[in-house]
Amino acid sequence: MHIHAYEKLWLAASILLILLLIGTVTYGAVGPGVAMVTDSEEPIDATALDEDDRFSEPRVEQVGEDEYAAYVVAYQFAFEPDPIVVPEDSTVTFYVTSQDVTHGFEVVGTNANTMVIPGEVAELTVEVDEPGEYGVLCNEYCGGGHHGMEGSFEVVSQSEYEEQAGGDEE
Ligand code: CUA
Repeated sequence: MHIHAYEKLWLAASILLILLLIGTVTYGAVGPGVAMVTDSEEPIDATALDEDDRFSEPRVEQVGEDEYAAYVVAYQFAFEPDPIVVPEDSTVTFYVTSQDVTHGFEVVGTNANTMVIPGEVAELTVEVDEPGEYGVLCNEYCGGGHHGMEGSFEVVSQSEYEEQAGGDEE
């Protein structure tokens, strides 16, 4: 059987397109480190956050040389702590939970964005460099004050951070 040269070309091109499609989808799924939410983490008791090690006192804690953990509680209609303050040039992992209903946690202008579900701890890590101030907002409808539910995330200079942290750093 004779296949016309152009037909071969189009066949090859369409096979290439399919391979490229599969390639980009595969890369998107596994390449940039995207992980699905799993149920491997134990749920916590949203009604007893005041007895929880991490969330009884929402705060930012230094956990490594340039690494910080931010324990954040969302509730109708605010975030705690507010502002969330971290030093420049660091890696910050947010652990966010809700004490009442489902909220959102979005650091405006970045790709840090998660749903916050009572009983679950949302975890996301960001790297910050320059000092700056970002809004934090709730993007899940959570009740009458939803539209006003906001907080802030502040990246400050090392010296300013040390000043604010006061005597509780070594
Ligand atoms: Cu919290 Cu909307």
